[in-house]
Amino acid sequence: MQDPNNDGFLCVTCTAPVNIAVIKYWGKRNEKLILPTNSSLSVTLGQDELRAKTSVAVSSDFNEDKMWLNGKEQSIENPRIQNVLKEIKRRARKRLSDSENEADLLLKHVHIVSENNFPTAAGLASSAAGYACLVYSLAKLYGVQGEISDIARQGSGSACRSIYGGYVAWEKGKADDGTDSYAVQIAPETHWPEMRALILVVSDQKKDVGSTEGMQTTISTSELMQQRIQGIDKKMKLMTQAIKEKDFPTFAKLTMQDSNQFHAVCLDTYPPVFYMTDVSRQIIQLVHSINDSTGHIKVAYTFDAGPNACLYLLEKDVPLVVSFVQHYFPSSTMHITGPAVSEYTLTSDDLEKVKVQPNPGAVKYIIHTKVGCGPQVVTDPAESLFSANRKPKH
Ligand code: DP6
Repeated sequence: MQDPNNDGFLCVTCTAPVNIAVIKYWGKRNEKLILPTNSSLSVTLGQDELRAKTSVAVSSDFNEDKMWLNGKEQSIENPRIQNVLKEIKRRARKRLSDSENEADLLLKHVHIVSENNFPTAAGLASSAAGYACLVYSLAKLYGVQGEISDIARQGSGSACRSIYGGYVAWEKGKADDGTDSYAVQIAPETHWPEMRALILVVSDQKKDVGSTEGMQTTISTSELMQQRIQGIDKKMKLMTQAIKEKDFPTFAKLTMQDSNQFHAVCLDTYPPVFYMTDVSRQIIQLVHSINDSTGHIKVAYTFDAGPNACLYLLEKDVPLVVSFVQHYFPSSTMHITGPAVSEYTLTSDDLEKVKVQPNPGAVKYIIHTKVGCGPQVVTDPAESLFSANRKPKH
């Protein structure tokens, strides 16, 4: 925490990762507390390529609570932000009650500045990284210790999983008050060093139907959803085991099947919700074609509430898969962010075995990333999102 002039201005800056689920969360049993109808499981991605960064500050000079997101002032009255702030302060109050000086901290107004290094609301789990970062930063500011993934959950369900690195389960819990609905790390980021993710960015436009609204309609209209809910616990067990044993084919097959079932449930919603596009479906065909051609499952796709694909694969197969994507989706905007990918020249045999309809320009760029760690405190004051005059930097 930084209070360089010792005049009551306290500031904390943190970063938090994106996570992409391999068993999807979709559906709530309690809208306000954000309690899910099923457990879910995700992989936390590397923060060099995908992260939210948040600076939170309190000062006696602030007259009201305020918030800025990606350079624009936003209403802090958003109920989810308010719920998170209330819960953090409630826990902080418990801890600070003995010390009058510190309790003063809770009376000061808070300013929040947050930004992502990737497009917001493009189905790239921006709310997950954003709320995880907000909760983690506030917890540091107010000295809240212990489990905080249940607080992040109240900002956005998937955010609870971004509180941890590696492979993370969100146990749905049973209690009405949500006390047993939180995230648990099942393996750290170092567990499976060969694991990689490729995000194929198809569109960076804001999606039409947000997850919150989409899942509400699914719960109230889809019969297929009941069947999905019944099968999830078994899938969670199999997925956890596949990760622990580093069994890529099982991990990949379960991932693809769960993504397909999630989008089937969206189609069974009335009126139907479409998140995947023709391009998403072409990517699915390409992945199956690559897997069929080698006789092994080398790569898995998964799609969230948007058309972008997240491919999971092992390091050794990255050059081949990237070459196929560049071959079938050639584009002038194509570039790859993240760790360098070695050249692989597709042979005529490769192209004979893997054939899909080319679609130039359909994939805009690729984000290549590893499995990453949980939220981090940023110690360098130059990295703060507040400038020296205590206003947002942008
Ligand atoms: C498809 O966490 O964005 O990405 O809890 O209403 O904020 P709210 O929804 P959100 O939903 C994410 C849905 C998903 C699947 C997943 O991440 O598990």
